[in-house]
Amino acid sequence: MYDEIATAFAEFISGHDEGWVPVHAIKVARNVVARTSNRVFVGLPICRDPDYLGLLVNFTLDIAKARKYIALLPSVAKPIAARTVAKMTTNIDRRIEEGTQYLGPLIEDRMKLMKNFGENWSDKPNDLLQWVIEEVATRNDPVEEVVRIILLVNFAAIHTSSTSFTHALYHLAASPEFIDSLREEIEAVIAEEGWTKAAMGKMWRLDSFMRENQRYNGINPISVMRKAVKSLTLSDGTFIPKDTILVAPSIATHFDNEYYKDSTIFDPFRYVREKEQDLSASKHQYVTTSADYVPFGHGRHACPGRFFAANELKAMMAHVIVNYDVKFEKEGVRPENVYTGLSIQPDPDAKVLFRRRKSSLV
Ligand code: HEM
Repeated sequence: MYDEIATAFAEFISGHDEGWVPVHAIKVARNVVARTSNRVFVGLPICRDPDYLGLLVNFTLDIAKARKYIALLPSVAKPIAARTVAKMTTNIDRRIEEGTQYLGPLIEDRMKLMKNFGENWSDKPNDLLQWVIEEVATRNDPVEEVVRIILLVNFAAIHTSSTSFTHALYHLAASPEFIDSLREEIEAVIAEEGWTKAAMGKMWRLDSFMRENQRYNGINPISVMRKAVKSLTLSDGTFIPKDTILVAPSIATHFDNEYYKDSTIFDPFRYVREKEQDLSASKHQYVTTSADYVPFGHGRHACPGRFFAANELKAMMAHVIVNYDVKFEKEGVRPENVYTGLSIQPDPDAKVLFRRRKSSLV
Protein backbone atom coordinates (compact mmCIF):
# COMPACT_ATOMS: atom_id res chain seq x y z
CA MET A 1 0.00 0.00 0.00
CA TYR A 2 2.73 2.40 0.95
CA ASP A 3 4.50 1.90 -2.37
CA GLU A 4 1.30 2.93 -4.17
CA ILE A 5 0.71 5.91 -1.84
CA ALA A 6 4.23 7.29 -2.40
CA THR A 7 4.11 6.73 -6.18
CA ALA A 8 0.62 8.20 -6.55
CA PHE A 9 1.29 11.36 -4.51
CA ALA A 10 4.54 11.96 -6.42
CA GLU A 11 2.60 11.71 -9.69
CA PHE A 12 -0.40 13.83 -8.68
CA ILE A 13 1.51 16.59 -6.87
CA SER A 14 3.99 17.57 -9.53
CA GLY A 15 6.07 20.72 -9.63
CA HIS A 16 6.54 20.66 -5.87
CA ASP A 17 10.27 21.41 -6.07
CA GLU A 18 9.40 24.97 -7.03
CA GLY A 19 7.80 26.18 -3.79
CA TRP A 20 4.07 26.16 -2.99
CA VAL A 21 1.86 24.26 -5.45
CA PRO A 22 -1.98 24.48 -5.44
CA VAL A 23 -3.55 21.01 -5.31
CA HIS A 24 -7.23 20.20 -5.93
CA ALA A 25 -7.46 18.17 -2.74
CA ILE A 26 -10.58 16.03 -3.20
CA LYS A 27 -9.54 15.02 -6.71
CA VAL A 28 -6.06 13.96 -5.63
CA ALA A 29 -7.45 12.18 -2.55
CA ARG A 30 -9.93 10.23 -4.72
CA ASN A 31 -7.18 9.17 -7.12
CA VAL A 32 -4.70 8.17 -4.41
CA VAL A 33 -7.39 6.23 -2.51
CA ALA A 34 -8.62 4.51 -5.69
CA ARG A 35 -5.10 3.48 -6.69
CA THR A 36 -3.99 2.40 -3.25
CA SER A 37 -7.15 0.43 -2.53
CA ASN A 38 -6.99 -1.28 -5.91
CA ARG A 39 -3.34 -2.16 -5.46
CA VAL A 40 -4.73 -4.41 -2.72
CA PHE A 41 -8.02 -5.30 -4.40
CA VAL A 42 -6.80 -6.29 -7.88
CA GLY A 43 -3.04 -5.52 -7.97
CA LEU A 44 -0.68 -4.04 -10.56
CA PRO A 45 -0.92 -3.02 -13.38
CA ILE A 46 -4.74 -2.57 -13.43
CA CYS A 47 -4.73 -0.40 -10.28
CA ARG A 48 -2.84 2.28 -12.24
CA ASP A 49 -4.94 2.16 -15.42
CA PRO A 50 -6.62 5.59 -15.69
CA ASP A 51 -9.59 4.14 -17.62
CA TYR A 52 -10.23 1.50 -14.96
CA LEU A 53 -10.00 4.17 -12.23
CA GLY A 54 -12.39 6.38 -14.24
CA LEU A 55 -14.82 3.46 -14.45
CA LEU A 56 -14.80 3.10 -10.64
CA VAL A 57 -15.68 6.77 -10.19
CA ASN A 58 -18.45 6.63 -12.86
CA PHE A 59 -19.92 3.49 -11.28
CA THR A 60 -20.16 5.32 -7.93
CA LEU A 61 -21.79 8.34 -9.59
CA ASP A 62 -24.28 6.07 -11.39
CA ILE A 63 -25.32 4.38 -8.15
CA ALA A 64 -25.85 7.78 -6.50
CA LYS A 65 -27.94 8.85 -9.51
CA ALA A 66 -30.03 5.65 -9.47
CA ARG A 67 -30.64 6.12 -5.74
CA LYS A 68 -31.91 9.64 -6.37
CA TYR A 69 -34.45 8.48 -8.97
CA ILE A 70 -35.53 5.36 -7.06
CA ALA A 71 -36.20 7.55 -4.02
CA LEU A 72 -38.88 9.36 -6.04
CA LEU A 73 -40.89 6.13 -6.50
CA PRO A 74 -43.71 5.34 -4.06
CA SER A 75 -42.65 2.60 -1.59
CA VAL A 76 -44.96 -0.07 -3.05
CA ALA A 77 -43.51 0.42 -6.54
CA LYS A 78 -39.86 0.19 -5.46
CA PRO A 79 -39.44 -3.60 -5.42
CA ILE A 80 -41.05 -3.91 -8.87
CA ALA A 81 -39.81 -0.79 -10.66
CA ALA A 82 -36.41 -0.03 -9.10
CA ARG A 83 -34.40 -2.07 -11.57
CA THR A 84 -36.21 -0.64 -14.60
CA VAL A 85 -35.75 2.91 -13.30
CA ALA A 86 -32.04 2.27 -12.69
CA LYS A 87 -31.70 0.92 -16.25
CA MET A 88 -33.51 3.90 -17.76
CA THR A 89 -31.59 6.58 -15.83
CA THR A 90 -28.06 5.20 -15.51
CA ASN A 91 -25.42 3.04 -17.18
CA ILE A 92 -24.87 0.61 -14.32
CA ASP A 93 -25.21 -2.49 -16.54
CA ARG A 94 -22.79 -0.99 -19.05
CA ARG A 95 -20.31 -0.25 -16.26
CA ILE A 96 -20.41 -3.92 -15.24
CA GLU A 97 -19.70 -4.88 -18.87
CA GLU A 98 -16.79 -2.39 -18.92
CA GLY A 99 -15.52 -3.84 -15.63
CA THR A 100 -15.60 -7.27 -17.23
CA GLN A 101 -13.38 -6.01 -20.05
CA TYR A 102 -10.72 -4.99 -17.51
CA LEU A 103 -11.05 -7.76 -14.96
CA GLY A 104 -12.56 -10.64 -17.00
CA PRO A 105 -9.31 -12.00 -18.54
CA LEU A 106 -7.56 -11.84 -15.16
CA ILE A 107 -10.43 -13.65 -13.43
CA GLU A 108 -10.51 -16.35 -16.12
CA ASP A 109 -6.73 -16.89 -15.86
CA ARG A 110 -6.97 -17.28 -12.11
CA MET A 111 -9.92 -19.67 -12.41
CA LYS A 112 -7.85 -21.81 -14.82
CA LEU A 113 -4.99 -21.88 -12.32
CA MET A 114 -7.41 -22.91 -9.57
CA LYS A 115 -8.72 -25.71 -11.80
CA ASN A 116 -5.22 -26.94 -12.61
CA PHE A 117 -3.54 -26.58 -9.23
CA GLY A 118 -6.38 -26.80 -6.70
CA GLU A 119 -6.50 -24.53 -3.69
CA ASN A 120 -2.85 -23.56 -3.58
CA TRP A 121 -0.04 -22.93 -5.99
CA SER A 122 3.26 -21.16 -5.63
CA ASP A 123 2.88 -17.36 -5.91
CA LYS A 124 -0.93 -17.55 -5.60
CA PRO A 125 -2.04 -13.89 -5.25
CA ASN A 126 -3.31 -12.81 -1.86
CA ASP A 127 -5.65 -9.98 -2.84
CA LEU A 128 -9.35 -9.19 -2.68
CA LEU A 129 -9.86 -10.41 -6.23
CA GLN A 130 -8.57 -13.87 -5.32
CA TRP A 131 -10.68 -14.05 -2.14
CA VAL A 132 -13.81 -13.11 -4.10
CA ILE A 133 -13.07 -15.58 -6.92
CA GLU A 134 -12.72 -18.39 -4.38
CA GLU A 135 -15.98 -17.36 -2.75
CA VAL A 136 -18.09 -17.29 -5.92
CA ALA A 137 -16.24 -19.76 -8.21
CA THR A 138 -19.04 -22.31 -8.05
CA ARG A 139 -21.91 -19.89 -8.71
CA ASN A 140 -23.57 -19.30 -12.07
CA ASP A 141 -21.75 -16.73 -14.18
CA PRO A 142 -18.89 -16.28 -11.69
CA VAL A 143 -16.97 -13.74 -13.84
CA GLU A 144 -19.80 -11.20 -13.83
CA GLU A 145 -20.45 -11.87 -10.14
CA VAL A 146 -16.79 -11.21 -9.24
CA VAL A 147 -16.81 -7.96 -11.26
CA ARG A 148 -20.02 -6.83 -9.55
CA ILE A 149 -18.55 -7.47 -6.08
CA ILE A 150 -15.25 -5.72 -6.85
CA LEU A 151 -17.15 -2.67 -8.15
CA LEU A 152 -19.41 -2.67 -5.10
CA VAL A 153 -16.50 -2.85 -2.66
CA ASN A 154 -14.94 0.05 -4.54
CA PHE A 155 -18.22 1.92 -4.21
CA ALA A 156 -18.14 1.38 -0.43
CA ALA A 157 -14.45 2.27 -0.16
CA ILE A 158 -13.47 5.15 -2.45
CA HIS A 159 -15.94 7.90 -1.75
CA THR A 160 -16.04 7.34 2.03
CA SER A 161 -12.25 7.21 2.40
CA SER A 162 -11.35 10.09 0.08
CA THR A 163 -13.97 12.34 1.67
CA SER A 164 -12.66 11.51 5.15
CA PHE A 165 -9.05 12.12 4.12
CA THR A 166 -9.90 15.49 2.58
CA HIS A 167 -11.81 16.59 5.69
CA ALA A 168 -8.68 15.84 7.74
CA LEU A 169 -6.31 17.48 5.26
CA TYR A 170 -8.36 20.70 5.45
CA HIS A 171 -7.94 20.74 9.24
CA LEU A 172 -4.20 20.29 8.85
CA ALA A 173 -3.88 23.02 6.23
CA ALA A 174 -6.01 25.44 8.26
CA SER A 175 -4.24 24.74 11.58
CA PRO A 176 -0.57 24.03 10.81
CA GLU A 177 0.22 24.55 14.52
CA PHE A 178 -0.42 20.88 15.27
CA ILE A 179 1.64 19.52 12.36
CA ASP A 180 4.90 19.60 14.38
CA SER A 181 3.54 17.32 17.06
CA LEU A 182 2.26 14.81 14.48
CA ARG A 183 5.49 14.99 12.51
CA GLU A 184 7.59 14.32 15.58
CA GLU A 185 5.60 11.16 16.36
CA ILE A 186 5.48 9.87 12.78
CA GLU A 187 9.21 10.39 12.14
CA ALA A 188 10.15 8.62 15.37
CA VAL A 189 7.88 5.63 14.66
CA ILE A 190 8.96 5.28 11.02
CA ALA A 191 12.63 5.43 12.03
CA GLU A 192 11.99 2.47 14.34
CA GLU A 193 9.46 0.41 12.37
CA GLY A 194 9.58 1.53 8.72
CA TRP A 195 6.32 1.96 6.76
CA THR A 196 4.56 -1.05 8.25
CA LYS A 197 1.16 -1.89 9.73
CA ALA A 198 2.83 -2.12 13.14
CA ALA A 199 4.04 1.47 12.66
CA MET A 200 0.49 2.66 11.96
CA GLY A 201 -0.61 1.03 15.24
CA LYS A 202 1.99 3.01 17.17
CA MET A 203 0.97 6.44 15.87
CA TRP A 204 -1.41 7.43 18.65
CA ARG A 205 -1.44 11.16 17.94
CA LEU A 206 -2.19 10.54 14.27
CA ASP A 207 -4.86 7.98 15.22
CA SER A 208 -6.47 10.51 17.57
CA PHE A 209 -6.39 13.21 14.89
CA MET A 210 -8.11 10.91 12.38
CA ARG A 211 -10.74 9.81 14.94
CA GLU A 212 -11.46 13.41 15.91
CA ASN A 213 -11.77 14.30 12.23
CA GLN A 214 -14.30 11.51 11.74
CA ARG A 215 -16.28 12.65 14.81
CA TYR A 216 -16.22 16.31 13.88
CA ASN A 217 -17.03 15.97 10.17
CA GLY A 218 -18.09 12.41 9.44
CA ILE A 219 -19.53 11.66 6.04
CA ASN A 220 -23.24 11.53 6.94
CA PRO A 221 -25.43 13.32 9.49
CA ILE A 222 -27.05 9.95 10.30
CA SER A 223 -25.67 6.44 10.73
CA VAL A 224 -26.62 2.86 11.70
CA MET A 225 -29.59 2.80 9.32
CA ARG A 226 -31.79 -0.23 10.02
CA LYS A 227 -35.22 -1.52 9.04
CA ALA A 228 -37.28 -3.47 11.57
CA VAL A 229 -38.07 -6.77 9.83
CA LYS A 230 -40.59 -7.57 12.58
CA SER A 231 -42.34 -5.53 15.29
CA LEU A 232 -40.43 -5.31 18.56
CA THR A 233 -40.51 -3.61 21.95
CA LEU A 234 -37.26 -2.19 23.31
CA SER A 235 -36.20 -2.61 26.96
CA ASP A 236 -37.46 0.93 27.78
CA GLY A 237 -40.94 0.06 26.44
CA THR A 238 -40.60 1.82 23.05
CA PHE A 239 -42.64 -0.04 20.45
CA ILE A 240 -41.14 -0.29 16.96
CA PRO A 241 -43.63 -1.45 14.32
CA LYS A 242 -42.48 -3.80 11.53
CA ASP A 243 -40.93 -1.98 8.51
CA THR A 244 -39.94 1.12 10.55
CA ILE A 245 -36.66 2.65 9.38
CA LEU A 246 -34.45 3.73 12.28
CA VAL A 247 -31.23 5.74 12.23
CA ALA A 248 -28.71 7.02 14.77
CA PRO A 249 -28.21 10.82 14.66
CA SER A 250 -24.44 11.15 14.16
CA ILE A 251 -24.19 14.94 14.31
CA ALA A 252 -26.39 15.24 17.41
CA THR A 253 -24.44 12.44 19.11
CA HIS A 254 -20.98 13.67 18.16
CA PHE A 255 -21.72 17.22 19.29
CA ASP A 256 -23.26 16.28 22.64
CA ASN A 257 -21.25 17.71 25.54
CA GLU A 258 -22.36 14.79 27.67
CA TYR A 259 -20.16 12.51 25.56
CA TYR A 260 -17.48 14.97 24.36
CA LYS A 261 -16.15 17.79 26.50
CA ASP A 262 -16.18 21.04 24.49
CA SER A 263 -17.69 19.07 21.65
CA THR A 264 -17.74 21.99 19.21
CA ILE A 265 -13.95 22.37 19.45
CA PHE A 266 -11.79 20.41 17.03
CA ASP A 267 -9.28 18.87 19.44
CA PRO A 268 -6.89 16.59 17.50
CA PHE A 269 -5.27 14.98 20.54
CA ARG A 270 -8.46 14.48 22.60
CA TYR A 271 -8.17 10.67 22.50
CA VAL A 272 -4.45 10.58 23.33
CA ARG A 273 -5.35 12.21 26.64
CA GLU A 274 -8.33 9.88 27.13
CA LYS A 275 -6.12 6.85 26.46
CA GLU A 276 -3.54 8.09 28.95
CA GLN A 277 -6.22 8.59 31.57
CA ASP A 278 -8.01 5.26 31.41
CA LEU A 279 -5.12 3.24 29.92
CA SER A 280 -7.47 1.44 27.55
CA ALA A 281 -5.49 0.77 24.40
CA SER A 282 -8.42 0.04 22.13
CA LYS A 283 -11.41 2.01 23.45
CA HIS A 284 -10.30 5.34 22.00
CA GLN A 285 -8.89 4.07 18.71
CA TYR A 286 -9.94 5.44 15.32
CA VAL A 287 -11.73 2.19 14.42
CA THR A 288 -13.54 1.51 17.71
CA THR A 289 -17.28 2.11 17.42
CA SER A 290 -19.66 2.69 20.33
CA ALA A 291 -23.13 4.13 20.93
CA ASP A 292 -21.55 7.60 21.10
CA TYR A 293 -19.09 7.20 18.19
CA VAL A 294 -20.92 6.13 15.03
CA PRO A 295 -19.03 7.40 11.93
CA PHE A 296 -18.49 3.74 10.96
CA GLY A 297 -21.93 2.65 12.21
CA HIS A 298 -22.17 0.29 15.14
CA GLY A 299 -23.07 -3.30 15.98
CA ARG A 300 -23.24 -6.30 13.71
CA HIS A 301 -23.19 -4.32 10.47
CA ALA A 302 -20.59 -1.73 11.49
CA CYS A 303 -18.28 -0.96 8.58
CA PRO A 304 -16.07 -4.04 7.98
CA GLY A 305 -13.71 -1.92 5.86
CA ARG A 306 -12.78 0.45 8.67
CA PHE A 307 -9.60 -1.39 9.67
CA PHE A 308 -8.40 -1.25 6.07
CA ALA A 309 -9.49 2.40 5.74
CA ALA A 310 -7.76 3.43 8.98
CA ASN A 311 -4.43 1.96 7.88
CA GLU A 312 -4.71 3.41 4.41
CA LEU A 313 -5.73 6.90 5.55
CA LYS A 314 -3.16 7.01 8.34
CA ALA A 315 -0.41 5.98 5.90
CA MET A 316 -1.57 8.63 3.41
CA MET A 317 -1.70 11.31 6.09
CA ALA A 318 1.68 10.27 7.56
CA HIS A 319 3.19 10.45 4.07
CA VAL A 320 1.83 13.96 3.52
CA ILE A 321 2.95 15.17 6.96
CA VAL A 322 6.56 14.01 6.67
CA ASN A 323 7.00 14.96 3.03
CA TYR A 324 5.12 18.23 2.64
CA ASP A 325 4.15 21.46 4.32
CA VAL A 326 0.51 22.31 3.67
CA LYS A 327 -1.57 25.47 4.07
CA PHE A 328 -4.46 27.38 2.52
CA GLU A 329 -3.96 30.51 0.45
CA LYS A 330 -6.10 32.34 3.02
CA GLU A 331 -4.11 31.21 6.03
CA GLY A 332 -5.90 29.73 9.03
CA VAL A 333 -9.33 29.50 7.36
CA ARG A 334 -10.83 26.04 6.78
CA PRO A 335 -13.38 26.03 3.92
CA GLU A 336 -16.94 25.29 5.09
CA ASN A 337 -18.32 21.78 4.68
CA VAL A 338 -21.11 21.31 2.16
CA TYR A 339 -24.29 19.59 3.42
CA THR A 340 -26.44 18.01 0.70
CA GLY A 341 -29.14 15.45 1.42
CA LEU A 342 -27.48 12.82 3.57
CA SER A 343 -23.88 13.68 2.77
CA ILE A 344 -21.32 15.95 4.44
CA GLN A 345 -18.70 16.91 1.89
CA PRO A 346 -15.51 18.88 2.31
CA ASP A 347 -15.54 21.91 0.00
CA PRO A 348 -15.34 20.15 -3.41
CA ASP A 349 -13.37 22.94 -5.12
CA ALA A 350 -10.83 23.98 -2.46
CA LYS A 351 -7.13 23.97 -3.30
CA VAL A 352 -4.55 23.12 -0.65
CA LEU A 353 -1.05 24.53 -1.13
CA PHE A 354 1.67 21.83 -0.91
CA ARG A 355 5.43 22.43 -0.58
CA ARG A 356 7.91 19.57 -0.61
CA ARG A 357 10.03 19.45 2.57
CA LYS A 358 13.80 19.26 2.22
CA SER A 359 14.13 16.57 4.89
CA SER A 360 11.39 14.33 3.53
CA LEU A 361 11.16 10.65 4.41
CA VAL A 362 9.91 8.31 1.65
C1 HEM B 1 -13.27 6.30 6.24
C2 HEM B 1 -13.81 5.40 5.43
C3 HEM B 1 -15.14 4.72 5.65
C4 HEM B 1 -16.26 5.16 6.32
C5 HEM B 1 -16.45 6.49 7.06
C6 HEM B 1 -17.26 4.11 6.22
C7 HEM B 1 -18.52 4.18 6.80
C8 HEM B 1 -19.44 3.14 6.79
C9 HEM B 1 -20.72 3.17 7.46
C10 HEM B 1 -21.28 4.34 8.27
C11 HEM B 1 -21.33 1.98 7.22
C12 HEM B 1 -22.70 1.53 7.75
C13 HEM B 1 -22.49 0.77 9.08
C14 HEM B 1 -23.74 0.47 9.87
O1 HEM B 1 -24.83 0.52 9.28
O2 HEM B 1 -23.66 0.13 11.08
C15 HEM B 1 -20.45 1.20 6.37
C16 HEM B 1 -20.73 -0.06 5.90
C17 HEM B 1 -19.91 -0.77 5.05
N1 HEM B 1 -18.63 -0.42 4.62
FE1 HEM B 1 -17.65 1.27 5.15
N2 HEM B 1 -16.74 3.08 5.48
C18 HEM B 1 -15.46 3.40 5.11
C19 HEM B 1 -14.58 2.62 4.38
C20 HEM B 1 -14.86 1.39 3.86
C21 HEM B 1 -13.94 0.58 3.08
C22 HEM B 1 -12.51 0.97 2.75
C23 HEM B 1 -14.61 -0.58 2.73
C24 HEM B 1 -14.12 -1.77 1.94
C25 HEM B 1 -12.85 -2.07 1.73
C26 HEM B 1 -15.95 -0.49 3.30
C27 HEM B 1 -16.92 -1.46 3.18
C28 HEM B 1 -18.16 -1.41 3.79
C29 HEM B 1 -19.17 -2.45 3.66
C30 HEM B 1 -19.04 -3.73 2.82
C31 HEM B 1 -20.27 -2.06 4.45
C32 HEM B 1 -21.59 -2.80 4.66
C33 HEM B 1 -21.53 -3.64 5.95
C34 HEM B 1 -22.81 -4.37 6.28
O3 HEM B 1 -23.88 -3.91 5.87
O4 HEM B 1 -22.76 -5.39 6.98
N3 HEM B 1 -16.06 0.71 3.97
N4 HEM B 1 -19.29 1.91 6.13
